[in-house]
Amino acid sequence: MRRLAPDPGETTVERQLDFYRPWEQPHETRPFVATNFAVTVDGRATIGGKSGPIGSDTDTEMLVGLRRRFDAVMIGAGTMRVERYGDIASKPEVREQREGLGLPASPLMALVSGRLDLPWDAPLFNDGGRVLIFTASEAEPPETAAEVEVVRHEGNVDLVAALRHLREEQGVRALLSEGGPHLHSQLWAAGLVDELFLTTAPRLTGAEAPRILEGKQLPGTTELELAWLLEEDGELFARYRRRLAR
Ligand SMILES: NC(=O)c1ccc[n+]([C@@H]2O[C@H](COP(=O)([O-])OP(=O)(O)OC[C@H]3O[C@@H](n4cnc5c(N)ncnc54)[C@H](OP(=O)(O)O)[C@@H]3O)[C@@H](O)[C@H]2O)c1
Repeated sequence: MRRLAPDPGETTVERQLDFYRPWEQPHETRPFVATNFAVTVDGRATIGGKSGPIGSDTDTEMLVGLRRRFDAVMIGAGTMRVERYGDIASKPEVREQREGLGLPASPLMALVSGRLDLPWDAPLFNDGGRVLIFTASEAEPPETAAEVEVVRHEGNVDLVAALRHLREEQGVRALLSEGGPHLHSQLWAAGLVDELFLTTAPRLTGAEAPRILEGKQLPGTTELELAWLLEEDGELFARYRRRLAR
């Protein structure tokens, strides 16, 4: 893998992430928030309705490496329904590495759902991880092997309040949001994102598919600055920061 900017030269995913310590930068009322997406060159976030066919194994390595450096991971119900997450820290070596960094052995998995229409048979609810669901539904989740806590909001989940809850009630210092596009858009619109990790895979989908921002709550023009740009086999791995007003 090559680092194109800053300071061009050879690198690896591991070396790039070695000094990445998002938990050291929490805000007072919310965690530090990074988001992660993989897109095609035509800017689409799914191929055939899924994210898996977009990126390479190196993209997966980047995502897995990132996950090891956050207290909590957040996804929307749409992503959970399609991607059917499992416990992302089930391997003992992952748990050990996380604890060595001063992070909880297993990240808190935070889900955002309006209707609580979730795939309860997915591994996440049955592998025994820690799950927190922000929902606008009054329904009760079924009994699952995982420890599931529910935080209810009225009408819609208020993401500012949800992130405050994560910071103040759950001690979350750093949150990685893995989408999807509807949740992502709202996070940017509410000014809740610090960084975006964006992989651009060298392929076109050539079909209609969501972009990384979708829905009614779009953030409008938002200035970013490039923190790094890496390349391997034509795939580009960018890390952007929100550009702060000067
Ligand atoms: N390329 C990538 O890197 C990538 C990353 C992530 C996802 N994806 C893809 O994106 C697709 C899913 O897209 P999506 O935009 O539908 O996913 P999403 O943002 O994960 O889920 C949308 C759903 O989340 C819930 N939600 C979001 N904000 C809410 C709020 N403020 N209050 C209450 N509920 C809220 C709603 O759930 P209810 O329906 O329960 O009300 C809504 O329907 C999948 O195909 C997935 O594979 C791609």
